[in-house]
Amino acid sequence: MMKQLHKSSPTHAPSPAHAPAPKAAKPARPGPRSWIGYLLREQRLLFVLLGALIASTFFLLRPYLSLSASSHLPDARPLFSFAARSGVPAGFRPPPRRVVVTGGAGFVGSHLVDRLLEQGDSVIVVDNFFTGRKENVAHHLRNPRFELLRHDVVEPILLEVDRIYHLACPASPVHYKYNPIKTIKTNVMGTLNMLGLAKRIGARFLLTSTSEVYGDPLEHPQKETYWGNVNPIGVRSCYDEGKRTAETLTMDYHRGGGVEVRIARIFNTYGPRMCLDDGRVVSNFVAQALRRQPMTVYGDGKQTRSFQYVSDLVAGLMALMESDHIGPFNLGNPGEFTMLELAQVVKETIDPMATIEFKPNTADDPHMRKPDITKAKQLLHWEPKVSLKEGLPLMVTDFRQRISDE
Ligand SMILES: NC(=O)c1ccc[n+]([C@@H]2O[C@H](COP(=O)([O-])OP(=O)(O)OC[C@H]3O[C@@H](n4cnc5c(N)ncnc54)[C@H](O)[C@@H]3O)[C@@H](O)[C@H]2O)c1
Repeated sequence: MMKQLHKSSPTHAPSPAHAPAPKAAKPARPGPRSWIGYLLREQRLLFVLLGALIASTFFLLRPYLSLSASSHLPDARPLFSFAARSGVPAGFRPPPRRVVVTGGAGFVGSHLVDRLLEQGDSVIVVDNFFTGRKENVAHHLRNPRFELLRHDVVEPILLEVDRIYHLACPASPVHYKYNPIKTIKTNVMGTLNMLGLAKRIGARFLLTSTSEVYGDPLEHPQKETYWGNVNPIGVRSCYDEGKRTAETLTMDYHRGGGVEVRIARIFNTYGPRMCLDDGRVVSNFVAQALRRQPMTVYGDGKQTRSFQYVSDLVAGLMALMESDHIGPFNLGNPGEFTMLELAQVVKETIDPMATIEFKPNTADDPHMRKPDITKAKQLLHWEPKVSLKEGLPLMVTDFRQRISDE
């Protein structure tokens, strides 16, 4: 019966229920007026505007909200800070930049990288690790604004940046005398390559020169106008004359190539991350006193030097880079100590029982060195803040840790 019913059903006239429904009329397209009406209803427009405001605020502030990989905490610097030290007007903070630091895995370079990343810049370190160490920058390896390139500046390189801090060069006598030909190559070809890059991409270039350009000075303290007293054929000339040539190249690229350049003449600087056995007097004394060895004084110990803590130098380099002044600028602490006085401060800081041994002086060791920093004070509004007695313990803590790990 059911079968029959089904079979016969198609022959039945279609019931009204099965009749095709008449096509629904298409809703009329909303005209511009009804869109405006739609937006104005239920405060929709207000929500749209609020969303746009939040999004644009986020994108504007994004560079300042970036995370520091070392701490995984937001940059603690306020957006508008007093920049009296750098000579930048209070309330102004430079926009984030792309910066390359050659020699950035070394002692000074790694401290400079810390500060640049802290202020929101993106940093590329170029280093061949001759005297630099990955450990010095390892705390930045997970920071997306940081890159580390193993590269020798004697070979050309192409990068897109706004600023070039050119530090790559062995700085201590032990290291620069190790392979003098390589030292002068680094100073001449390395500086040429980085100046060529600056010219090609329109970046500003800063050279870290040295107080060694004054040689064994006949003028004391040394002003930037002093031309120096350098032995051009001595064992130190690969460094001293190398840096003098680097200064010449820098000025010629400025005059002839229109490159924006800055020259810093750095006086003895000390602090954490210095190489332990690099033969520089502060690191020598500190490492020897910590290892309970006698502190070696070369000559009679009456030669004078000035000692600058690394954070002061970094502040000076950054102020110079962002200033309108080409240089050269002396960056150093004008406090003057004989080697014997320095040994005494080290003794007081580390071990009152520490002893001194005298050895013959090395060739061409300058008798006195003290910067005149009037120019930097007046034009960069910069001067060192950290005394030897304040800075030395910070370095000793780092050296003590590294020596105990040996
Ligand atoms: N620290 C001071 O007291 C002092 C004084 C005067 C000038 N300076 C200058 O400051 C700069 C940094 O000095 P520092 O004390 O940090 O020395 P450093 O030896 O710790 O750092 C130099 C860095 O340059 C790198 N480097 C060397 N040759 C290179 C090359 N051919 N290619 C790529 N990288 C290379 C090294 O691996 C190292 O990381 C140097 O130019 C130095 O001449 C330093």
